[in-house]
Amino acid sequence: MHILETERLILRHLEERDLNDLFALYHDPTIRRYYPEGTLSLAETRAELNWFKQGHPQYPALGLWATVLKSNGAFIGRCGLLPWELDGRAEVEVAYMIDKRLWGQGLGTEAACGVRDYGFHTLKLTRLVCLIDAENIASQRVAEKIGMHFERAGADDKGPYLLYAQEQAHS
Ligand SMILES: CC(C)(COP(=O)(O)OP(=O)(O)OC[C@H]1O[C@@H](n2cnc3c(N)ncnc32)[C@H](O)[C@@H]1OP(=O)(O)O)[C@@H](O)C(=O)NCCC(=O)NCCS
Repeated sequence: MHILETERLILRHLEERDLNDLFALYHDPTIRRYYPEGTLSLAETRAELNWFKQGHPQYPALGLWATVLKSNGAFIGRCGLLPWELDGRAEVEVAYMIDKRLWGQGLGTEAACGVRDYGFHTLKLTRLVCLIDAENIASQRVAEKIGMHFERAGADDKGPYLLYAQEQAHS
């Protein structure tokens, strides 16, 4: 299912045919450098793809979505909205991951902007966050460029993170 589009990108539900492309990202130590779980195996990637195929099972409007170039249909990342409970508060995270061969072309920011707008304007969410490793400068830049501000440092069972947040009032 088509979720949203930006100038250069289409975001849609993950499908079976995305498995190898998703695995290429999840298996890459550079791309997975700041993820506490590290790289994923093919079986772990398949399990995650299946989990998100129809959106997040508990919150179907949220999920990780295939991020595809409009120009040639190539799968170049996975971005989306993820539900978390942080310190007893329900939060929704803007998540983004782009193929490293395409870093530095503004695609991460473009995808994150589209996801942010979808969250605020289509889903009418009032608050979005990003959970970012303190050393992941590119991700912090993306968060800032889409309007998030650093709120606090936190930690959960997976380790420490920086929490960036942005709020949107709806009348
Ligand atoms: C974070 C990520 C999506 C950014 O994708 P991208 O397409 O390169 O992003 P953009 O081209 O829009 O660049 C965004 C900003 O980050 C900066 N940036 C990119 N790589 C950087 C790096 N290695 N170090 C410092 N800044 C960097 C860019 O210069 C740009 O800022 P600027 O406009 O002020 O110059 C990409 O690095 C990625 O997929 N990383 C692996 C997955 C990941 O860590 N996701 C975030 C988890 S919290």
